[in-house]
Parts: sequence; structure tokens; C-alpha cells
Amino acid sequence: MKPKIILDCDPGHDDAVAMMLAGRTTEIIGVTTVSGNAPLALTTENALLMTELLQLDVPVHAGASRPLIVKPSHAEEAHGKTGLDGPKRPAITREVSSNNAVEFIISTIREQDDIWLVPIGPLTNIALAVAQAPDIVDKVAGVSIMGGSTDLGNVTSKGEFNIWADPDAAAIVFDAGFKDLRMAGLNLTHQLGIDDEVISQLDAIGNKTANFIADLFRFYLNAYKQRTKGDVAPLHDPCAVLAITHPDLIQFQKKNVRVETQGIHTRGMTVIDDREYSHESFNCDVGYSIDRDVSLSVIIDAISTYN
Ligand code: RIB
Ligand code: CA
Repeated sequence: MKPKIILDCDPGHDDAVAMMLAGRTTEIIGVTTVSGNAPLALTTENALLMTELLQLDVPVHAGASRPLIVKPSHAEEAHGKTGLDGPKRPAITREVSSNNAVEFIISTIREQDDIWLVPIGPLTNIALAVAQAPDIVDKVAGVSIMGGSTDLGNVTSKGEFNIWADPDAAAIVFDAGFKDLRMAGLNLTHQLGIDDEVISQLDAIGNKTANFIADLFRFYLNAYKQRTKGDVAPLHDPCAVLAITHPDLIQFQKKNVRVETQGIHTRGMTVIDDREYSHESFNCDVGYSIDRDVSLSVIIDAISTYN
């Protein structure tokens, strides 16, 4: 049985690949969008673009246009002005099913068993849903996030974008008491890097989806090289999907994780309690290593199944 998921996202190049992967390895009950890599209007338009390109018959519900407390931040330097720069944008004929992602999340979890939440952008929608309907915490099968880090940040030395962009929302989610909370942080996602060789493999597939994602990767990799001088760009968001569809590819450790919301230099840090003698309860399965080769082959195989 494929896991039933709600994909909460801010497309975003890596969000787009996560949706593609989830489209083949999960049953996507719905896609919800949030302000993050780009403003909400663009992340929502990009989610519609991807569901149409991938021919996924799933509803898209727009969500929070800003974080709970801090001011909105975006990642144009990584994803471009549209949030999905690189490929020629196809015409989008689809429209959002609602502008109330939080209500969709709450009602879906209340009405259906075994729903996974897969947030791969700032956690604003998830935090709002938990605050409005605490009963969903025990009802949901689990939450698999891309966010945080056990070591380095990317926005600041300790802040990873999804957590840093709305630290108050992230603190609500990590403190909510989910029975199965999985974290794919930067320490993990930097092990799943794409390079020119991966792009060549996509070029060899030759279908429309592969060509689109190859153009996404060309932009994303080039932008990453410009910013970091690195020649392998981390593919973050698909790790959160693999954490539930292919958990054997990831080595997890149970940890107590808290989110820093007040720090001047540590805003959005996921504070991992690594003490052997810690009396803090474990609240999260933190990913520490991932099998890059098999993960990439799963992703590329999935791309080859689309038109
Ligand atoms: O820090 C990486 C995360 O921020 C990814 O989810 C990427 O899409 C951006 O949202
Ligand atoms: Ca994202």
C-alpha cells in the first residue's frame, strides 16, 4: 500500500522533484502551498504547474501567505524570480481548489485514517492546523519534514531556511507531540547532491518531464555554484518523501529536538540534544545518512515513468 500524504510545499526546484517522486511512490491526497521560496501566489502557481505537467489528478489548496510572527523571507537567489526559474513555463490551466489549506489539512486528517503530512517548506500551515485542531496530532500517521540541521544552516550558520523562515511555527510542530516525526535536515540532504552527470542522465531519458526537470536542475546547480563554489547541489525535499517511502535508505537516530525562536545568532536552529544522559524525551527521528546512489536511481526511475 502506498502511504497517503498531504504534500505541503513552496515550489521551489526541489519541491517540484519531491512532488514528482511522491506522484509515483505515494497516494497524494492533496497539495497545500505556503509562502517560502517565493511568495504564496508564485508557490501556488508553481504547484499547479507541476500537477499539470505531471498529470497528477490532485487538488492544490493555497495556505499561509506569511509566517506566524517574523516577516516573510524568500529564496530568489536559489530558485529565481518565479520560484521555478530555468525551464520554459508551460501554460497553466488548472486552478486552486481553495485558499484554505489549513482547513483542508484538518478536515482530511479528521475524515481519513493513516494520513502522512509531508511539509517541505516553512511549517506555517502545519502549525496553524495544530493550533486550530490539536486532535489531529494523535490522528495523523506521522509527519516527515524537510528542515533543520544537526550541524550547519544555510540562511545563517545555524538556521536552515524552512525552520528559519518561520521558527515559531517550527517550534509548535516539534513540540506538538507527534508520535512519528521524521526530520530530513541539511546534514542529510547534502548527501543527496545533483551534478552535471545526473543532468546528463535526465537528458538521456527524453520525455517532457525529464527535459523540464533537467532544465530545473541546470538553473538550480548553476545558482548553487554561483553562491557556494560547490559543484554538487543538495536535493533537499525528496529526502522527506524517501523518509516514508524508502526508510531503509536513511539511517535515523531518535533525538530530542527543540527549535530556537529567540536567538539573535541562532534563530531557527534545530537544537539536537546529543547528551548520552539526557532526560529529555525523544520527539523526532533525525536522519543522519542516506544512500545517495539508490536514492538517485529511485528518483530517476520515477522521472522516466512520466510523459
Ligand atoms: O533549506 C532547504 C529548503 O528550503 C528546501 O525545502 C528548499 O525548497 C527551501 O524551501
Ligand atoms: Ca521547499
